[in-house]
Amino acid sequence: METKIKVSDNLYLSKMGCGTWAWGNRFLWGYEPQMDEQLQQVFNLCVSEGVTWFDTGDSYGTGKLNGRSESLLGKFTNEYKGNCQNEIAIATKLAVYPWRLTPQAIINACQKSVSRLGRPVDLVQMHWSPAKYLPWQEKPLWKGLAQLSQQGLVKGIGLSNYGPKNLQRAYDFFQAEGVKISTLQIQYSLLSTYPIQELGLKQLCDRLNIQIIAYSPLTLGILTGKYQDINNLPSGPRKGLFKGLLPKIKPLLQTLDAIAQNNQKTIAQVALNWCICQGTIPIPGAKNVKQAQENIGALGWRLSPAEITELNTIALGLEKKMIQNIFQTT
Ligand SMILES: NC(=O)c1ccc[n+]([C@@H]2O[C@H](COP(=O)([O-])OP(=O)(O)OC[C@H]3O[C@@H](n4cnc5c(N)ncnc54)[C@H](OP(=O)(O)O)[C@@H]3O)[C@@H](O)[C@H]2O)c1
Repeated sequence: METKIKVSDNLYLSKMGCGTWAWGNRFLWGYEPQMDEQLQQVFNLCVSEGVTWFDTGDSYGTGKLNGRSESLLGKFTNEYKGNCQNEIAIATKLAVYPWRLTPQAIINACQKSVSRLGRPVDLVQMHWSPAKYLPWQEKPLWKGLAQLSQQGLVKGIGLSNYGPKNLQRAYDFFQAEGVKISTLQIQYSLLSTYPIQELGLKQLCDRLNIQIIAYSPLTLGILTGKYQDINNLPSGPRKGLFKGLLPKIKPLLQTLDAIAQNNQKTIAQVALNWCICQGTIPIPGAKNVKQAQENIGALGWRLSPAEITELNTIALGLEKKMIQNIFQTT
């Protein structure tokens, strides 16, 4: 396994993590409890192969299944015996629900995650910023995150869906509290280059020593190349999204395919390796062992500078890209 990335004094993350939004989500991802055995195998495979950290959220799991992703991770961590067992790290994201208004609300939310996980949270992240619609909610929640860190209840704190102006404000706040922001999680892939290319978040994060985590690095699966026939698309919201995207992103899929063949890799592996080459940590979601195995194959090699330039140029020139998360701030 390649060396891990240090994001705080006592938290090290593998160069790729595993996203678990689908683990409990029926609406977008078609989760069914019968999938749990397979998901446990995904977990075991990832850890044993050195992909030792998992991204979850306290809002993951639809309806009655709310919190399911965290509960499954708790069970899987607890039952795992094997290689890298002591390196497992769990990053959760606390939702900015409108009724979470005080520092204590964030602390309570984190404690609930801890009880679902049956173990401490390693990295606690604010899922999104309320700056665009309820700005006064934000500081008390930052304060709660700072207190979790100051009390030693977590090893690191992170933010998600923040743009540069908002991130700088947060940085100043946490600095005054003596707390480091370890990570920023953003929607980033060859089809979601906006946060870095247009908002300039990488330069800022490098300056502030904040590690970028790339979520939806496969653009919900379309960058695996498996959804190319518009008559054979996944059901649910992805169907409409992919239908709109596919005719416009052919040059990108063709280039990914050519580069994949040159490197004896797959399209998904090239798309993930590109994220790594941009200095981000991708956290692809995986629903079965085959997907996880393929995604792990994005580690241990690097695209050439010429290949990266080629991909950047194509991505830049695309007529259409993935819509950005509505919570992304500037
Ligand atoms: N901070 C935030 O606001 C936020 C938002 C979204 C996501 N996230 C995090 O980021 C993680 C990853 O993003 P994501 O799950 O949205 O999207 P993604 O990683 O871009 O795509 C994941 C999906 O693609 C398909 N897939 C993955 N690997 C594959 C492979 N090798 N071959 C074929 N298909 C493959 C699977 O779905 P199918 O098999 O159904 O196609 C899988 O569920 C999430 O799980 C979550 O932890 C965070």
